[in-house]
Amino acid sequence: MKYGTHTGNAVKAKSQCAIVGVYENCQLSPSAMLLDQASKGYLKKVLKRGDISGKIHQTLILHDVPDIGAVRVLLVGLGKKKAMTSAKYAGIAKTVIGKIKAISSRTNLCCLLEVDVPDRDIDWKTRRIIESFEAGLYSFTEMKGKPPEKTDAIESVDLLVNDKSELKAVTGAIAVGNALTAGINSSKRLGNLPGNVCTPTYLAEQAKRLAKDYLSITTKVIEEKEIEKLGMGAFMSVTQGSVQPGKLIVITHKGGKAKEAPHVLVGKGITFDTGGISLKPGGGMHEMIWDMCGAACVFGTMLAIAEQGLAMNVIGVIAAAENMPSGDASRPGDIVKTMSGQTVEILNTDAEGRLVLCDALTYIDKFNPKTVIDVATLTGACIVALGSHASAMYANDDGVAADLTKAGEDSLDRVWRMPLWDDYQVQINSPFADMANIGGREAGSITAACFLARFTKKYRWAHLDVAGSAFKGSGPSKGSTGRPVSLLFEYLNNLAA
Ligand code: BES
Ligand code: MN
Ligand code: ZN
Repeated sequence: MKYGTHTGNAVKAKSQCAIVGVYENCQLSPSAMLLDQASKGYLKKVLKRGDISGKIHQTLILHDVPDIGAVRVLLVGLGKKKAMTSAKYAGIAKTVIGKIKAISSRTNLCCLLEVDVPDRDIDWKTRRIIESFEAGLYSFTEMKGKPPEKTDAIESVDLLVNDKSELKAVTGAIAVGNALTAGINSSKRLGNLPGNVCTPTYLAEQAKRLAKDYLSITTKVIEEKEIEKLGMGAFMSVTQGSVQPGKLIVITHKGGKAKEAPHVLVGKGITFDTGGISLKPGGGMHEMIWDMCGAACVFGTMLAIAEQGLAMNVIGVIAAAENMPSGDASRPGDIVKTMSGQTVEILNTDAEGRLVLCDALTYIDKFNPKTVIDVATLTGACIVALGSHASAMYANDDGVAADLTKAGEDSLDRVWRMPLWDDYQVQINSPFADMANIGGREAGSITAACFLARFTKKYRWAHLDVAGSAFKGSGPSKGSTGRPVSLLFEYLNNLAA
């Protein structure tokens, strides 16, 4: 979809549909007011009939409003003026795109930047409109026998800019929004591709492709032979059970000075998680195609910052493997040596995410990172704790935690900080090895984070458990959410600013 700007008058602008807001009790937004005046009170007359009062998410489409440039007017309820919030604003944009989609309105004039949102500037509003619109337009159809033809029924959305002095900000924000949504959509796509297509090899190919598409990016793929040589016994214990070779994929974005230390993102890329010998029950197992959503998020974030040309050095590392039961698979009770030298007793082969991540987290120390964020669909317990609204965040540094919390609130891709107290560490102690890979029934998301914390002492680090937020596992709208690309994009952009 093409996003543009329109300065000047909502009245004269030619479009298939002008989108304007109405507050509760039929209070017109500035552009709605102008349309009403131009049409000699047409909007107010309709409102009087009571079809729409301005309650949030209400909509009404008007045809042939006299003496204006738009063929249709989409009135959208904004709720109470004083009650507007960031989340409501993004929600209204979602409602709007649903309607526009339903009527396949080709060219559109969106007059929602004039809607006041507390503490938010026009740059923020522009990015959120694009993000909400693109989310509403996304569908995953490429695996259909006959993928539907791209009709591109909706061609364009022009954002009305009332004040010419704001044009530059909006134009810039459109470019940033386009970069962000390209990243989100690529992340969704990788997430949604099934396990037989999206293998570790496929992820590596996509990462190499990224390096072809963007000058700032170089990709290095570390193969199993090398992974073994590096001493990554935990990573190997997961990948050894699969015929699909595991890969450690290193995507480097050079946007900053040559010697500037990078920020590092690490993603769990289990392209399918059967549980291994500790086999998962069959019922929901298909949902484990999304067990590489952490990796997909790292990929999408790297694409977004490359597309944007972010002036900062960032390295994305994807730990890609398939967790399968087989004669070569690791056994419950196996003890393996990690790259860090610490040994792990694998009491449950289904706790495989932490096994691939711990070695990746040791590997990246050589980059001397400024901060490290890992992203993983790590535990079912995380879903029990937080549901889908927030990603669980763990951090060994209050500054990183604060930065991520703020980025979450600004991007509406929120995190909630969880404890990493030593008290929980005892749960993963092992009499035989340096640690066990599970910590019992209690506090499962926390003990998984405690496990990772034993490998991340040398740098400022946060872990995001996105098991609940990264995908919706069932129903007609199932699929990857693209989270937390928006969060990480915001986080990195804030650091760069
Ligand atoms: N990939 C799963 C976690 C998961 C479950 C993500 C459901 C998304 C939805 C992970 O590898 C796993 O199996 N974790 C186990 C850990 C347990 C064995 C300690 C779990 O959560 O049950
Ligand atoms: Mn598992
Ligand atoms: Zn898993």
